[in-house]
Amino acid sequence: MPSSTNSRPARKAVIPVAGMGTRFLPATKAVPKELLPVVDRPALQYIVEESARAGLGEVLMVTGRGKAAIEDFFDRTPELEAALEKKGDQARIDAVAESTDVAQVHFVRQGEAKGLGHAVLQAASFVGDEPFAVLLGDDLIDARDLLLEQMLAVQAEHGGCVIALLDVGADNIDKYGCVAIDDAPQTDAGEGDQVVRITGMVEKPPRDEAPSSLAIIGRYVLAPEIFDAIRATPPGRGGEIQLTDALLKLVEDGVPVHGVVFSGRRYDTGDKLDYLKAVIRLAVERDDLGPALRPWLRDFVGDLAPEGASQA
Ligand code: UTP
Repeated sequence: MPSSTNSRPARKAVIPVAGMGTRFLPATKAVPKELLPVVDRPALQYIVEESARAGLGEVLMVTGRGKAAIEDFFDRTPELEAALEKKGDQARIDAVAESTDVAQVHFVRQGEAKGLGHAVLQAASFVGDEPFAVLLGDDLIDARDLLLEQMLAVQAEHGGCVIALLDVGADNIDKYGCVAIDDAPQTDAGEGDQVVRITGMVEKPPRDEAPSSLAIIGRYVLAPEIFDAIRATPPGRGGEIQLTDALLKLVEDGVPVHGVVFSGRRYDTGDKLDYLKAVIRLAVERDDLGPALRPWLRDFVGDLAPEGASQA
């Protein structure tokens, strides 16, 4: 396979949302986890907004069974807008329109949840022969942190693929896809984030076999060569077609694969504890909720018994 030197900038984004969301059962029996509200908007809306902010206004969502509500959410709602118009409620009309106007959203179905690699493969004809971004539907990056913009700049400079990384520490790395990096001096991606060259990858390694404590998180900028690599990738861990395995194939074929080590704020909204943290953190900083929430939180935390003591 030739080394990717694709010089066109990425214009499109793919958001896979076909996973089953088992960590959030029973809520996700009827509501896709990507639509669980973070304060007052679905986690997925933050992600579409992030994509649009980075200049990727063409978005493809890879959905599956039980995810029809996602299509409804990004569709126009003329009846609702007419009812709000009658009441003269412009603020809510704007809030409703925000979810549909932010990007051009398209949908494709995965059919069977056979893994993230398989989900990304469903985007092949939408993407064509150009680099593109993948944003995972349950990974929320704070809007003030410009991770995706940095990754797009690294891809434009080096070609190939770029993966977002987070140092999760050696004790936690067995829950993530993990990378090996070369020992060349790291370069600055801006905002304290570093650019590294990736030399290897392994999905959820045992702690004592992990090549680093750098975990793959849910942002990728991929070269179109990834599609052939996925087609050539057999089911791996958990019987799923893993994107990590296809990326490793590209590394082995000599395609440049870089990582941006993120040092900003990120929440895995598919995880219950991280979801709660995201809601609190974002609500505390909002002008409409923060002034009432902050003093309440201070009192609440002040009343909490220290860890290990029994609560009255
Ligand atoms: P996760 O590993 O978080 O899986 O997938 P999940 O099934 O959604 O959640 P849990 O672990 O059971 O709670 C990472 C991302 O890949 C998508 C998911 O929607 C999520 O955004 N995905 C995963 C697919 O689109 N298709 C798949 O076959 C698997």
